[in-house]
Amino acid sequence: MRIAMIGTGYVGLVSGACFSEFGIDVVCVDKDEVKISRLDRGEIPIFEPGLDDLVANNVRAGRLTFTTDLKSAVKDADAVFIAVGTPTRRGDGHADLSYVYGAAKEIAEAMDGYTVVVTKSTVPVGTGREVAKIIRETRPDADFDVCSNPEFLREGAAISDFMRPDRVVIGTESERAQEVMRAIYRPLYLIETPIVFTTLQTSELIKYAANTFLATKITFINEVADLCEQVGADVHDVARGIGLDGRIGRKFLHPGPGYGGSCFPKDTLALVKTAQDYKAPLRIIETVVDINDKRKKQMAEKIISACGGSVSGKTVAVLGLTFKPNTDDMRDSPSLDIVPALQAAGAKVKAYDPEGMREAREMLPDVEMCESAYDTMDGADAVSIVTEWNEFRALDLERAKKLMKQPVMVDLRNVYNPEDMRKAGFEYVCVGRGT
Ligand code: UGA
Repeated sequence: MRIAMIGTGYVGLVSGACFSEFGIDVVCVDKDEVKISRLDRGEIPIFEPGLDDLVANNVRAGRLTFTTDLKSAVKDADAVFIAVGTPTRRGDGHADLSYVYGAAKEIAEAMDGYTVVVTKSTVPVGTGREVAKIIRETRPDADFDVCSNPEFLREGAAISDFMRPDRVVIGTESERAQEVMRAIYRPLYLIETPIVFTTLQTSELIKYAANTFLATKITFINEVADLCEQVGADVHDVARGIGLDGRIGRKFLHPGPGYGGSCFPKDTLALVKTAQDYKAPLRIIETVVDINDKRKKQMAEKIISACGGSVSGKTVAVLGLTFKPNTDDMRDSPSLDIVPALQAAGAKVKAYDPEGMREAREMLPDVEMCESAYDTMDGADAVSIVTEWNEFRALDLERAKKLMKQPVMVDLRNVYNPEDMRKAGFEYVCVGRGT
């Protein structure tokens, strides 16, 4: 079995490395020569726990290689996975499929013998059919099937999510393609992972339905958190109290500054557009998108109000800039709304993130980037935890208090206990734990 993985972004690189760990020969392909030569030298372009070792071990074992030569990689492959980007298209919110379709054409030109072409990127319903059409038009003689196999891994937990998934979804009606996919995922059969075989379109929709449902769950608890603040209830107890009902489930009920990242914002928007196009609008997701966009900005208001209604001339320390911990990914991070809003209100912003500083420097100009949490809090009028990195969970509060001008903390991830913070002498504002 031989796989070609087209695209060495998050999904492509993790999936390629994990498939090679399954014992399959994998060639990862990317147009970016610099990226490929860095990967060849063992340099991993993203921060993902465990990925460097996984790549190194499989490269050493000779099962994982990198190339810019799509033609030769595809020629020898039994299955070609398309894992290129599908960013939001400028202007209309649809997913931009130009990279997917471009890859389909190149794959068609290089295919040799029966090949299963698999879309791993998150692609709107109908994309698989279009990929098949492009391949057929480019190479009328090609022997192939198209299959949808969406990825459900989370950044920061990507390897364990891939190796021990809740389920695998495979969309194809071809028996022959199903056989190839069964062979690829054989190790997961051994650990009794449920494998859902379905049609192309259904598989494509499952991915969007899963992500938008999770985004809805987060948005629901965020709104309940706001209500908790008004009525004096505790959102964590509400989440536990409802989550213990197996029909609801406890996961993804942690309130915060709004969801971010490279998936939820893009996928909610894309599904809204698809549904509108098909005249079957998903009004609940439209509302989720709207609430989440506004929420990120409202978080700046929360910080401003904790500072007595104005941050003009004040210094705000921001701890955590990435959209969640254990990643260096800044895409659609709440910090990208919060920090500029604080600056626009006249605040000086100092910030620190364990992994996100390199990207953040470009995306957040005029922020004083610091070396540590304590450097950041030095001289600050308030500190806000925006991302719940572990190293912010046990801050030396006495030291922080001495360093800060005012002991004010706005904890947007509810890392601390309100009672303990009050005892420590902090004015403490959090999310959904009303007093
Ligand atoms: C998400 C999905 O969880 C994965 O299953 C999916 O494969 C992936 O998108 C994708 O489509 O590729 P990811 O974006 O890495 O994964 O991150 P999540 O852990 O889902 O978090 C997304 C956002 O929701 C973060 O900003 C996080 O802080 C927020 N969140 C999450 C909450 O505010 N509360 C929660 O309870 C959970």
